[in-house]
Amino acid sequence: MQCDSLRGFDRVRALRWQEGALHLLDQRALPLQTQWHALSSSLEVAHAIRALIVRGAPAIGIAAAYGLVLAARECALLPPGQQTTAFIAAAENLRAARPTAVNLMWAVDRMRAALADQPDVDRALVEAKAIEAEDLAANYAMAILGAGLIEPGSGVLTHCNTGSLATAGLGTALGVIRAGFADGRVARVYAGETRPWLQGARLTAWELLEDGIPAALIADGAGAYVMSLGQVQWVIVGADRICANGDTANKIGTLSLACAARQFGVRVMVVAPTSTVDFGTLEGSEIHVEQRDQRELTDYAGQQIAAHGVTAFNPVFDVTPARLIDAIVTERGVVMAPDVEKLRGAFA
Ligand code: MRU
Repeated sequence: MQCDSLRGFDRVRALRWQEGALHLLDQRALPLQTQWHALSSSLEVAHAIRALIVRGAPAIGIAAAYGLVLAARECALLPPGQQTTAFIAAAENLRAARPTAVNLMWAVDRMRAALADQPDVDRALVEAKAIEAEDLAANYAMAILGAGLIEPGSGVLTHCNTGSLATAGLGTALGVIRAGFADGRVARVYAGETRPWLQGARLTAWELLEDGIPAALIADGAGAYVMSLGQVQWVIVGADRICANGDTANKIGTLSLACAARQFGVRVMVVAPTSTVDFGTLEGSEIHVEQRDQRELTDYAGQQIAAHGVTAFNPVFDVTPARLIDAIVTERGVVMAPDVEKLRGAFA
């Protein structure tokens, strides 16, 4: 399969740099409304990441990189003695916007290193554009590598949104599904709704419909049952952080799918660029799992739907141990049955 045969599946963009501002497609409003916001300060970008206007591990890294272009512009207006301190403060603020997806920290650190903390706007823009372009190229490479693992006529189940909206374009797990569909390997797609924020029902279902790829939306709790019917040969998901030993943080619900997959003889594929691989985190227990506002669970569309007075526990990621993962696909290759030695050998 060639990259060109995938371009027709890559039409949506979550962000674009235009006329000196970062434009973000508001993922809170999709698919009912298409709203773009033009952001012109690094504080606005940090807020947009926290508020999930932009989301998905690679996309928040790219957004933060452009946030540092805006920070460089702001800092260049300050007296020379204050510029570096202000630039570092803006970088730290962006880096802390969300805790789990390592692509955010990776992108901020890469920008700081490229600029040596000097707010040079032109240099910052070159680096941010490179981060975006490399992510897009990685997704095309992973799509082809991952699809190659799938037998023709297979059913796949995916979780959360890992498509163009979550990346620079095409997607990670959804890129593999797109390539697999184009190649006749993927015959059926099940998309978990992804409670509570509904990334699957709102975003993945929308992207698949835009592409003309038939998919069935399922309640998150239906995953194990669908696997028990023999309808699914691969669970294919993205990642927010892959530890040195292969333990993988991804959207809450991924761990349940991986446990069910093992029970029913379904294989699990994690698809993520090497910017998601974090050799500084040795194993899953070290990952900071983001907890979000209880109201994401107790309320819907601004209306309380849970019993008044109930408290909620809302971790938005979980960690799947490496032993439940059959393949990790990155742009630099595939690691089967990942462990610390194989990952170091492949990527360190
Ligand atoms: O909270 P979100 O929507 O940012 O979580 C996104 C996910 O968990 C994705 O599966 C992951 O970032 C991979 S996206 C290519």
